[in-house]
Amino acid sequence: MNVQILDSKTAIGSAVCGLICDKIREKPDCVLGLATGATPVPTYDALAAAYAQGTVSFRNVRTFNLDEYCDLPKTHKNSFYTFMQAQLFSRVDMNPANIGFLDGNADPAAESARYTAAIEEAGGIDLQLLGIGRNGHIAFNEPADAFSQESFRVALTESTRIANAGYFDDVPMPRYAITMGVGLILRARQLIMIATGESKAAAVKAMLEGPVTPQCPASALQTHPDVLVFLDPAAASLLS
Ligand code: PGA
Repeated sequence: MNVQILDSKTAIGSAVCGLICDKIREKPDCVLGLATGATPVPTYDALAAAYAQGTVSFRNVRTFNLDEYCDLPKTHKNSFYTFMQAQLFSRVDMNPANIGFLDGNADPAAESARYTAAIEEAGGIDLQLLGIGRNGHIAFNEPADAFSQESFRVALTESTRIANAGYFDDVPMPRYAITMGVGLILRARQLIMIATGESKAAAVKAMLEGPVTPQCPASALQTHPDVLVFLDPAAASLLS
């Protein structure tokens, strides 16, 4: 894994934006795997700025997001779909037909089969953005006894529910989500993992220096041939 430690979240956002823009220029109909959460926001801000400056177009880009809450309407203010609309899609020239999302209200097995087939039909994910949870999760793959493969419905752990509960002021925080599995995520040609802040330092150490174990789902990245990891000094602070 190629690990880069940059000064700030903004510097990481610019660097990752640069890599995504390069990918789009090289392959205008590239397939991006996208992540939600606070971590990628500086990247999405930089991409919106690049689009506003006319240096990149998303017209032919296709996207697939990692995960979505279950039992929450797609258009609820806290859905990941709404998050992506606000943070990126509405700020650039994305074609709505090119936006791929897991449906948290569909039958999970059928939805998983549909999503895997849609990704394959698009030619596979060229570049997948990832964040990491404090417990080492990627997407909503929580620590488990085995690495997941395709998409599946998952019960959120207490730690994840606490980390996200603050966003839910009108309805209770959902207890389940549907997420791409680790095996499906690892099929992307290139992975870009971003981790910022001290709260991620232990998970980052386990991801990079610990054993490959489903107890730290992010450790599976050690088995992928093309991973770029961007850290700020706080997230890197426990690395040896
Ligand atoms: P965060 O979430 O970016 O909001 O910290 C990352 C994650 O849990 O994957």
